[in-house]
Amino acid sequence: MTDEWIRIAAPATTSNIGAGFDIFGLALKEPYDIIEGRRIESGIVISEVTGPGSDGIPLDPESNSVSIAAAEVLRRCGENFGIEIKIKKGIRPCSGIGSSGASAAGGAYLAHILCGEKLSPTEVVICAAHAENVTSGGFHADNVAPCVLGGFTMIRSYEPFEVVSIKPPENLGVVVAMPDVMVATKESRMVLPTEVSIRDMVFHLGNASCLVYAMMTGDMGLIGRSVKDAIFEPARAKLVPHLKEAESEAMSHGALVSFLGGSGPCIISFYDKSSHDGNAIAESIKTLYAQNNMKCDTWVTECGSGCKRI
Ligand code: HSE
Repeated sequence: MTDEWIRIAAPATTSNIGAGFDIFGLALKEPYDIIEGRRIESGIVISEVTGPGSDGIPLDPESNSVSIAAAEVLRRCGENFGIEIKIKKGIRPCSGIGSSGASAAGGAYLAHILCGEKLSPTEVVICAAHAENVTSGGFHADNVAPCVLGGFTMIRSYEPFEVVSIKPPENLGVVVAMPDVMVATKESRMVLPTEVSIRDMVFHLGNASCLVYAMMTGDMGLIGRSVKDAIFEPARAKLVPHLKEAESEAMSHGALVSFLGGSGPCIISFYDKSSHDGNAIAESIKTLYAQNNMKCDTWVTECGSGCKRI
C-alpha cells in the first residue's frame, strides 16, 4: 500500500423507521460525507474538516467519530501505521440522518481499505458502531449498518452482533426535510421512556414485522401503514417545532408516510416514485417552515448503496 489519498463517500441514513428503534436503517443516495485519507508513519491526524457544521467538529482524534472508527479498524487488523484524514461534511451534524454515523462508517471503511480489506462487512459496522458509542452516548448501529452495507438493514441482535441487509423496492422515493434546528442524539435519547408497556410492544412488533415483509415484497401501501411508532417519536416530538404539521403537509401532498428521522430533527417522507412527485412533498414542508420563519433544507432522494470508494 502506497501513501496515495483514498476518497470514500459515506451516505446519510435514516434510522428507526417507525417501530424499529435502534434496529432498522436505510441508506440514502444523498446527502453524503466525503472522507479522504492516506497512510502515514504513525498516529491519526485530522488535517482538515470542511462543510456544513464543520466548525463544531473536533480535530482531536480521540473525540472525532472518523478517527475513533479508523483507530478501531487498525487495532482489530493489528496494524500500527498512521492515517492522515480530511473530512468534507455533506451531512450537517445533529440532523437525524446519521451525520456522526456517516463519519464513523466512512472512517472505518477508509481504514479497512488502507489495511487491505481484511475485515468482514459486519466487523466494519462494529468498528463504526464503537465510534458512535463514544460520540453519541449509546451503542446503536442502526445508522452505521446501512451506511456500510447499503439498503434496508435490520439488526437482529447486538450481543452477539448480527445484521441483515435487504434491497428495498426500486420505486421507494425518500424526501428528507431538515428544519433549521439542532438536535443532539445524546440529548434526544435522554427524553425517552425507560420502560414500555406490553400494549406498545405488541403494536411495535406487528408494525416492524409487516414493514420488513413490505420492504421485501415491494408492497408500498403496507410500507405506508407499517411505519408507526407509539413510543419514541411521541417522546421526542417536542424537540422539533412543527413536526406534526410538516408530516401532515407531506401526507396531503402524496407521501405514503412521514415520520421523524432517527433522533431528529429531520422529517422523512416515503413516496411511490412511479406515481407521485417528491418535489411537491419537499416544497410543502419548506413552505410550512417558511410561513413560520424557519429555514428548512430538503433533498428529494432515494435508497442507496453503502460506503464506496470514489
Ligand atoms: N436509533 C438512534 C436513536 C438513532 O433514535 O437515538 C440516532 O440517530
